[in-house]
Amino acid sequence: MQSESRKYAKITTHVLQEMKLKGEKIAMLTAYDYSFAAILDEAGIDVVLVGDSASNVMAGHTTTLPITLDQMIYHASSVMRAVRRALVVVDLPFGTYQGNSKEALHSAIRIMKESGANAVKIEGGKEILESVDRILSAGIPVMGHLGLTPQSINKFGTYIVRATEEAEAEKLKRDASLLEEAGCFAIVLEKIPAKLAKEVTGMIRIPTIGIGAGPHVDGQVLVLHDMLGINQKFSPRFLRRYHNLNEEIKGSVQAYIDDVKSVDFPNEREQY
Ligand code: KIV
Repeated sequence: MQSESRKYAKITTHVLQEMKLKGEKIAMLTAYDYSFAAILDEAGIDVVLVGDSASNVMAGHTTTLPITLDQMIYHASSVMRAVRRALVVVDLPFGTYQGNSKEALHSAIRIMKESGANAVKIEGGKEILESVDRILSAGIPVMGHLGLTPQSINKFGTYIVRATEEAEAEKLKRDASLLEEAGCFAIVLEKIPAKLAKEVTGMIRIPTIGIGAGPHVDGQVLVLHDMLGINQKFSPRFLRRYHNLNEEIKGSVQAYIDDVKSVDFPNEREQY
């Protein structure tokens, strides 16, 4: 079955705005390479996020902090070679935008110029507003990211649900309004109470994309390797697993090993 949003030939930030107005949900997934990005795009995904979760999923780091701008550009370029229809958003990695807004603009320009991506995503609210402003003033669309912001793991100390206390929830709402006023085209809300995500979604005119933020948001995002069951070590409550690819791939590799060892592979038809 084709997704409802297949009626849009090309997804742009304006289409996402239109989808919010029409109450059509936005489907976003991460991808970091050409092959998976092609599958996602052919399946009709609306937004491909080249997330800095590549640091965990592709490189095996325990946090998103080590990934570099050059590495993000490499992943984003591979994705861009595959995607025809989806909007491609790329995370600005840790350390490339928090220090000063000139550096933030330089980092965003490098991503747009060298990968050909459509937009960048930045974690944080008021603290990074100057960077958001400067990037936006160069005509680069920006997606915000509030709630659990994994690049601040050393400040939080844990990956538990955020903004359960009144003060943090109020700050998150203020930050969402600031990002909207600045001109961001959407905001990711990560791991916050469903009630708060609903309130924020009703409060701002730009789309909210939730991950662990309940159903009352304008769209959902998951990390591809988690939802396909490639990565089995990560099992938060919000994660729905659509496949058990880890077991399936392991089974195929074991069958191949057996076939090679028993000289069953290659057979008559598999040689010249
Ligand atoms: O890096 C990432 O994959 C993300 C999503 C979890 C939203 O930021």
